[in-house]
Amino acid sequence: MREPYRTTTVYFQVDPQVPEPRPIELAGDAIRAGGLVAFPTETVYGLGANALDETAVEKIFRAKGRPANDPLIVHIADVSQLPGLAVPVPEIAYRLFQRFAPGALTLVLNKREAVPANLTAGMDTVAVRIPDHAVALALIKAAGRPIAAPSANRFSRPSPTTARHVAADLEGRVDIILDGGPTAIGLESTILSLVRETPQVLRPGGVSLEELRAIVPDLTYQPQYLTDDAAAPSPGSMLKHYSPRATVILFRGDDDLAVWAAMKAFADDHDHVGLMTLEQDVSRFADLDVKVESLGADLDAAATRLFAALRSLDSRGVKWILARAPDTTGVGLAIGDRLLRAAEGVVIDVKPVV
Ligand code: TXA
Ligand code: MG
Repeated sequence: MREPYRTTTVYFQVDPQVPEPRPIELAGDAIRAGGLVAFPTETVYGLGANALDETAVEKIFRAKGRPANDPLIVHIADVSQLPGLAVPVPEIAYRLFQRFAPGALTLVLNKREAVPANLTAGMDTVAVRIPDHAVALALIKAAGRPIAAPSANRFSRPSPTTARHVAADLEGRVDIILDGGPTAIGLESTILSLVRETPQVLRPGGVSLEELRAIVPDLTYQPQYLTDDAAAPSPGSMLKHYSPRATVILFRGDDDLAVWAAMKAFADDHDHVGLMTLEQDVSRFADLDVKVESLGADLDAAATRLFAALRSLDSRGVKWILARAPDTTGVGLAIGDRLLRAAEGVVIDVKPVV
């Protein structure tokens, strides 16, 4: 087992809209020197290193405790950096980035030799995105290099949407944490592979399938939930992911009343129950001895609060976390995917009451 990367962590507050030049310069220097910098993006916080420096990339894996077979996403400031990482760059990649960059879309392309093998977990493809966040873009420019960055959490923990989450997981394992406040989307980017005959979504995320289909009508999405690491054809698709310490139980069903009744029955039968639900449904659980986290008024709000709610319920000492699977349209698809992984596949299908 590799030793974890150890260092002294320095924190800087940065303005998320107009980042102060001094901390950005220092963070850029740290990246060039082979160090690790955690920074905000519009999706979640990233744990960044110089993407073209194999030793720096290795530190990311050691800091996170991330298995070597799970490749990283490379962050660039604009499309002019794309040909330095990928070859060929198909025309569709430019069209997609024209529409969705900067933004929560990651494209998988055939990699150039300059991209280190450990970054791509030995594969001949590379994942690239242009984050929509002034701090991330300023950092990439200050570093003068593309920045490899997975989500800045310990392996299999919920992704961080605040600098405090990053600190909780990585204090002493990252050189600099740039604190630019909470992230806007709260779920990771959508990953779209362009290396096969038909474009294939590998992970639903901040850009919805409906939006993508407007440009790539023939894209496919085949959810993959693997429990056996060795069998993973597309790395990072392991079922266990985003796990809080508590056990997450996902309730699925179209009949609102039946689903709420099933959740209440579970809460009645168990101790130390936590629950996540939309704001308008919080009052339904008022008479129960459960700790409730509101996910806000709609699914966009729920996306921003989901990972924080998992961490918060953990810190409130619950043993169980109940949640309801949302509709699979729009951002609901990505929320459902994250919930299913947090629940490690444990779903209760609630039949309608007839
Ligand atoms: O929004 C995001 O994408 C965030 C922020 C920091 O940019 N990053 C992120 O990285 O979520 P991470 O490491 O937590 O997830 C990256 C995913 C992994 O599941 C990995 O398997 C997949 O991207 N990936 C990376 N390179 C790939 C490749 N060449 N082919 C297929 N999948 C790849
Ligand atoms: Mg991650």
